[in-house]
Amino acid sequence: MTGTDSSSSAGTAPEAGSDGAVSGTAGSNGVANLSPEASRGHLTSRITSADAIPIGDADPGADHGYHGELAAILIGEEELRAKIGVLARAVAADHDLDTPPLLICVLKGAVMFVTDFARALPIPSELEFMAVTSYGSATSSSGVVRILKDLDRDITGRRVVIVEDIIDSGLTLSWLLKNLATRGPASVDVVALLRKPEAIKVDVDVRYVGFDIPTDFVVGYGLDYGERYRDLPFVGLLGEHMYR
Ligand code: PRP
Repeated sequence: MTGTDSSSSAGTAPEAGSDGAVSGTAGSNGVANLSPEASRGHLTSRITSADAIPIGDADPGADHGYHGELAAILIGEEELRAKIGVLARAVAADHDLDTPPLLICVLKGAVMFVTDFARALPIPSELEFMAVTSYGSATSSSGVVRILKDLDRDITGRRVVIVEDIIDSGLTLSWLLKNLATRGPASVDVVALLRKPEAIKVDVDVRYVGFDIPTDFVVGYGLDYGERYRDLPFVGLLGEHMYR
């Protein structure tokens, strides 16, 4: 387990359409023709605790058997869908059709994200899965990581994109980047749906980030507490009474 827009890189900001999609002219790969800087500009939305929508009489958690367990919705289904489209276009704009990205999904939390992300990508991609566990408490990682399931193939010469659901301390990702770098890939980039900037303990180079979120206890869309809530289609805040 574990607003306002902020840009992770400088550059001309592309215009976002009503669906949140980045606009541009079609390039040779059929993907919006944007400079790498422009394609990454304004990717990251900052969400604060004030943006959370408290659960009212209609509890969306109840539709999934979690009645009375959530405090709020932090990122709704539509917002997730729009953001994933933006991230997918940005990643596609940085790749050519003849060098399809190899998506490495870090189990289990990133499962929902990678399936939606791969389907939103306007270029072909290939999928690999890796499972790691971090020694530490139930709610924070220590940075000492053990591989539970390794990749099924050699990544030498491949353009790898690590797909992560959340960057909390950054320790897991920092270890993973070092580990994959020893395997001779052509490049390794990271796309993370969520990041908790106030929780970061190590500097990690993350090219594509969907949302910067507060340090609140988030669940849903792959994120769990005691293996529950991964199946929620939105990102919510867990009620304090569930973990205190
Ligand atoms: C979560 C998440 C990241 C990691 C982030 O995985 O999926 O991999 O924690 O935390 P960090 O930045 O502090 O290292 P977790 O180990 O909880 O396993 P899970 O994906 O199976 O829930």
